[in-house]
Amino acid sequence: MTPYEASAEALKICNLAPIVPVLIVEDVAHATPLAEAFVAGGLPALEVTLRTEAALEVIAAMAKVPGGAVGAGTLLTPDDVKRAKDAGATFGVSPGATDRLLDACEEVGLPLLPGAASASEAMRLLERGYTVQKFFPAEAAGGAPFLKALSSPLPQIRFCPTGGVSMGNARDYLSLPNVICAGGSWVAPKDKVTSGDWAGIEALAREAAALPR
Ligand code: 3PG
Repeated sequence: MTPYEASAEALKICNLAPIVPVLIVEDVAHATPLAEAFVAGGLPALEVTLRTEAALEVIAAMAKVPGGAVGAGTLLTPDDVKRAKDAGATFGVSPGATDRLLDACEEVGLPLLPGAASASEAMRLLERGYTVQKFFPAEAAGGAPFLKALSSPLPQIRFCPTGGVSMGNARDYLSLPNVICAGGSWVAPKDKVTSGDWAGIEALAREAAALPR
């Protein structure tokens, strides 16, 4: 898969909804009802971070939920890429980007949303063909004003800001011309996941899905 093809796929996924839930799931038993709650609430694109032992099984279970698009987040190594693809992830997300990681995603055909946090990082990815990028860590790296400033010299790059995004500031990002969607974990609070409050999560998803962009 070329970087151009990967970006075209990433664009489709980012266009599905204004918010991509960033999920840290400890228990595989939570996978299916959690994904169903998000699909029902209007947030079908899901990023399951590879930060728990259960993550790959969670991806495999969520991939079977109709209407969802399940990706693997926190991809750091070529091995992560291979395991995510084998588990059924249809896209990948990484906090930053290295040549080894990009090579691996292109080789196995996993569309990647690669992370960038500066003009040079974004330009390096653009040079390789990645026109759709994650802006991480969004709030800490300059927030919406930073992305707004990049939109003038680098209008061809579209971003999914992630890291510190919430209902309180999501509109600031989503109103920018170079933002397609944003990622965030606030739609899956740990207490609601562990207690199985799927209706509560669906309500949070519905609220996020209604954000204008
Ligand atoms: C992460 O890597 O955990 C994501 O950037 C989510 O960040 P958030 O918890 O601030 O939404």
